[in-house]
Amino acid sequence: MDTFIIKGGVPLYGEVAISGAKNAVLPILAATLLTSEPCVIRRVPNLSDVHFMGRILRSLGASFSYENGMVAVHANRIKARGDYDLIRKMRGSICILGPLLARKGKANVSMPGGCIIGTRPIDLHLKGLKALSAEVKVREGYVQVEAKQLKGTEVFLGGRVGPTVLGTANIMMAATLAEGVTIIESAACEPEIVDLAHFLIAMGAKIQGAGTPRMTITGVNKLHGAEHDVIPDRIEAATYAIAAAATNGEVTLKDMRCDHLAAVLDKLKEAGVQFEAKGTSLKILSGGNIQPVDVSTQPYTGFPTDAQAQLMALMLKAPGLSIITERIFESRFMHANELARLGADIAIEGPSAIVRGGMPLSGAKVMASDLRASAALVIAGLMCEGRTQVNRIYHLDRGYEVMDKKLRSLGARVKRGKES
Ligand code: EPZ
Repeated sequence: MDTFIIKGGVPLYGEVAISGAKNAVLPILAATLLTSEPCVIRRVPNLSDVHFMGRILRSLGASFSYENGMVAVHANRIKARGDYDLIRKMRGSICILGPLLARKGKANVSMPGGCIIGTRPIDLHLKGLKALSAEVKVREGYVQVEAKQLKGTEVFLGGRVGPTVLGTANIMMAATLAEGVTIIESAACEPEIVDLAHFLIAMGAKIQGAGTPRMTITGVNKLHGAEHDVIPDRIEAATYAIAAAATNGEVTLKDMRCDHLAAVLDKLKEAGVQFEAKGTSLKILSGGNIQPVDVSTQPYTGFPTDAQAQLMALMLKAPGLSIITERIFESRFMHANELARLGADIAIEGPSAIVRGGMPLSGAKVMASDLRASAALVIAGLMCEGRTQVNRIYHLDRGYEVMDKKLRSLGARVKRGKES
């Protein structure tokens, strides 16, 4: 398995271009199943999750090609059931349920497994599909949904910790071809949901209120092919901004959307990070003395759970106590134990991690456990003096396009190797 070898202690300098958003691309690729006409999606990052979704689309009978950030999908004739083993392996594939049901009148997908950050239930997805008059059965680890005709409805999709992003995506996509009007209350407001809505509207869907908690979808008979440019990845941008601050460097992030990062920039400002944010570029300035912060992860526009681990790495250099509370997932502190191997002092108290920053850090061998935890370990390795080896880097390749190359272009001493 691949590993990153990092020789830390070097400030990052230069410019880095932010790639397209993984969490926008996955539901948008699923949405191509809603039409028998070809679709072209641009600014698609070269990620293992993207190619995995491509394999799932192919297993359903669609054609899928990827070249230089451009994806062409043609779901001309498709099946209602894909390759279970494939679908089971990537949680994000649950978002094929809604479009398949809307297009084929039925869909069979394997229950997405939980993952290391939590149980990842899909009860809200199924509640929404039932509200649209689908018959839902969960049997032997598979979800079977069927509906002769989906009927528009009003459905509240809020769960115990707020909205569901992919649940909103599933119901939105199914509702585009339902009879009548669907109102989703407590819809997810993430930029990735707005981007999906823009793509669906380009396909001929009638959607209002995307990005607000109340979304209205008026069903149409058919959707046509469309072209779309994916939004920049706000979590990748947050990751590089934090890495620049953590190494006391000076880095300009290009082709991004500062307006998608208000909560992160607010928290970085409170932590003493100096930066200039202008439209599609963000310049992190060196010299800020990092201060401890108190943060809770929340649904958008709050502080994103997907940037929690990265912020924790930054707080290792803030003298004093920081409190990081994870309100979205039940076990998203796997990175804390690995950060401790580098010298971090982190106590977990229920949903909160109490970070005693300012402790001396030194490089060590650590193991990635999930996508954003891996990013936190890389940031910590860049901060530490000495050599850090981050194992199981396949987690990182799921969501960060050529991270080692981008970091090297900023002067980091990072190389990809094989675990010995
Ligand atoms: C999306 O996952 C993202 N993944 C996640 O990013 C992100 O962390 C998450 O949204 C929250 O922002 C993709 O978009 C591919 P949820 P999703 O449904 O949609 C509970 C990353 O690192 N819930 O919004 O699966 C759930 O347990 C990944 O890029 C239910 O209770 O997350 C969680 O506590 C990780 N019932 C909360 O809601 C349901 O039916 C939010 O989950 C669905 C969810």
